Amino acid sequence: MENKQAKRRIVLVPVPAQGHVTPFMQLGQALSSKGFSITVAQGQFNCVSPPQGFPGFQFVTIPESLPESELKRLGMVEFAIKHNKTNEASFKNCIAQLLLQHGNDISCIIYDESMYSCEAAAREFNIPSVIFTTTSATNHASRCVFSKLNAERFFSDIEGALNHSLMAYHPELKEKVVENLYPLRYKHLLPSGLGPLEPLLELRREVVNKRTASAFIINTSSCLESSSLSWLQQELRIPVYSLGPLHITALASSSLLKQDRSCLEWLNKQKPRSVIYISLGSMAHMETKEVLEMAWGLSNSNQPFLWVTPNGDDGIELFSEELSKMVSERGYIVKWAPQTEVLAHPAVGGFWSHCGWNSTLESIAEGVPMICRPFHGEQKFNAMYIESVWSVGIQLEGEVERGQVERAVKRLIVDEEGACMRERALVLKEKVKASVRAGGSSYNALDELVKYLKTG
Ligand code: UDX
Repeated sequence: MENKQAKRRIVLVPVPAQGHVTPFMQLGQALSSKGFSITVAQGQFNCVSPPQGFPGFQFVTIPESLPESELKRLGMVEFAIKHNKTNEASFKNCIAQLLLQHGNDISCIIYDESMYSCEAAAREFNIPSVIFTTTSATNHASRCVFSKLNAERFFSDIEGALNHSLMAYHPELKEKVVENLYPLRYKHLLPSGLGPLEPLLELRREVVNKRTASAFIINTSSCLESSSLSWLQQELRIPVYSLGPLHITALASSSLLKQDRSCLEWLNKQKPRSVIYISLGSMAHMETKEVLEMAWGLSNSNQPFLWVTPNGDDGIELFSEELSKMVSERGYIVKWAPQTEVLAHPAVGGFWSHCGWNSTLESIAEGVPMICRPFHGEQKFNAMYIESVWSVGIQLEGEVERGQVERAVKRLIVDEEGACMRERALVLKEKVKASVRAGGSSYNALDELVKYLKTG
């Protein structure tokens, strides 16, 4: 007979995007290993399809009216706002059904911060709620500072004028380090690459105003972001559990796309630490001109490279005969790779990344130094930490140009500078691995979270 005390149910609500679904499924596995039953409530696209390695998990669909085409049409921020509006009622229905089905045995709703409409159901049914921040602690801290500044009208609400207004009204703030959050400076708080300002401000207001969650979970380790975590603990005044990197202990992959494993065979034929692996995650998009410059730079570097191009149409078909020949001699191109296995492969010497938080954690956990090319959102914080705090990578700034690409690859894979970064990356790898082992900070935080969920 099922022991209800020991096996209480947690409902997880991820944002329907690879970079969010992945850590949610990893959190689900961690909580399942501690005896909780897991229900994953997901939308109609970008879903994990059961029974993909998650035995015992229940998957339910929130019947929502927004199709995937709306994400493409509106962009991430406006989609999130609209998604929450349409989600609220159907999520309540979904929870009502689950309560009937499981005899009220739902201990907590853990939702992605951007799925704030879940709070309405949590309040209505009197179920505790916890926010899971799938990006870094530093990103979360930066949002808190940003929201406060905005409330105090440091920033103008006028669309497009943010940069100006900040500098015009408070020029002294620009280079100032945010108190207790070094190396974060006020200028870094300006949102980048996320479209018009007003919807972003609306989203941030909604996220903060709707928040009644009783705790935060963050996929990070105190050995990576101790100052940001201490800042958050003080600022949020509710428990903050840093459990990461969660992928280290996760058993099943939650890739939404089919991974092309042929690249592992190709890697087997390459020399140790010679390959540069290039992936820009599931959302970033490069212009054709940049793709061409990158292809030339990679080929000219004379290093083997493994390149992920999910869309497959980023300009690769426009390669000249000469470039195609060089690329096929030195490189291997796939649409989607088994990334964690690639990073763990001894042939991989460096990772050219957009610095999504999952990719950053996965690279650190394998001791692989990085070339950072952030695109939008919090990726710039991750790049800043990789280069200036952990010193395990270099940032590529400005336009992508073949000479610059060639130099960056050589710096990372061939030069002494790269060897030093690798040494530091290996030290960091040991620290993050220790944090998830018995007695480590993330391991202990998971135990504390479990206690909290059982008694809360
Ligand atoms: C998004 C945001 O862009 C990112 O900044 C945020 O931190 C999380 O949400 P995404 O762009 O997809 O995520 O990047 P990232 O966080 O790095 O996640 C990508 C995931 O896809 C990783 O877990 C990676 O292992 C996986 N992946 C990537 C593959 O399995 N195969 C690939 O070929 C490429």
